[in-house]
Amino acid sequence: MQHSPKLLLAPMQRVTDYPFMKVMAQLGGPDIYVTEYFRVHVHSTLEPYILKSVNENPTGKPIYAQMIGQDIPSLVRGARELQEHAVTGIDLNLGCPAPIVCRKDAGGGLLRNLQKVDAILGALREAVESPFEFTVKTRLGFDSEREFEELLKVFTKHEIDALAIHGRTVKERYQTPVHHEEVKMACEAMSCPVYANGNVVDVATGLSYLDKTGADGLMIGRGAIRNPWLFPQLHAAFAGEEPITVTRAMLLGYIELLWEETAREFHAPFDEAKHVHKMKRYMNYIAQGVETEFEHAIRRAQSKNEFFSICRSFLESQEALPALPPERSKLFCGFSDLLG
Ligand SMILES: Cc1cc2nc3c(=O)[nH]c(=O)nc-3n(C[C@H](O)[C@H](O)[C@H](O)COP(=O)(O)O)c2cc1C
Repeated sequence: MQHSPKLLLAPMQRVTDYPFMKVMAQLGGPDIYVTEYFRVHVHSTLEPYILKSVNENPTGKPIYAQMIGQDIPSLVRGARELQEHAVTGIDLNLGCPAPIVCRKDAGGGLLRNLQKVDAILGALREAVESPFEFTVKTRLGFDSEREFEELLKVFTKHEIDALAIHGRTVKERYQTPVHHEEVKMACEAMSCPVYANGNVVDVATGLSYLDKTGADGLMIGRGAIRNPWLFPQLHAAFAGEEPITVTRAMLLGYIELLWEETAREFHAPFDEAKHVHKMKRYMNYIAQGVETEFEHAIRRAQSKNEFFSICRSFLESQEALPALPPERSKLFCGFSDLLG
């Protein structure tokens, strides 16, 4: 029997922490979680804030710990240290496009040096011992998706346990359509599960990405911040059931839950203004699809009262939200190509 595709929450720095994972799990959640990256270098120690999500796993599902770095002895040490914690596996970041990361030849910067990628994969494969898994999250190349063929040859050399592919180059950052042909090429070449990532924003874009690539599952980031029910909606679609409709009132409930869970993480004394500021990071995504005036009003909120009275004035209704975010917002664009 064909297995149902797996769903993964994409790692997102300063987003996919303990409280966020807990909220996702409460609303249905994916099958697999990945932490934001641990920075690994000669002087690094594992960040306690990220370790919390692993050791107190609030999801009941497997969690992979992601590392970013380029110094092989340090990465090997990091992998060994992580295996002393409650991780299911260790994931290597080969995609971060931040200039400060790429300048240090880490993350996406490593894609300019395939010999180094080869050496890192070899060393980590040896360092990550059963029952722990070793997985990789990559982009297609640094400058061009045409680099992917050579990169894929490196991946096929190593017995990695899963490969998640963000279907863009490092240069393309986050805004372009994804190159599904290259993801398909990887699905055909790799013997491990391959997860397609980038621009899944609703059930239709998710089903279409799977259809175009033959991937074993989907990894979803920004689309899940905006609509955490995307995971149960896709699970329903895979089972041939009708996905639930998300209403404005449900979105309000999600924002309240996110506030509560993230506020719990605040070390005393609780700073309300700082917390409103933290919530705005999520709200940038959550507001896409509601009237633009909502986004603008939330940006001006300073207190909890102000914040929630704005939320209530836009969201206290049983009206269904649009499945898709606006196509040309700065946070979501290029996804309609997946539907073509
Ligand atoms: C705020 C933010 C933080 C991110 N942090 C990480 C990270 O720590 N590690 C990583 O591999 N990718 C990171 N990414 C990339 C995402 O995991 C994902 O590959 C990308 O957003 C494309 O998927 P999406 O269209 O579903 O969001 C980040 C993306 C965003 C928007």
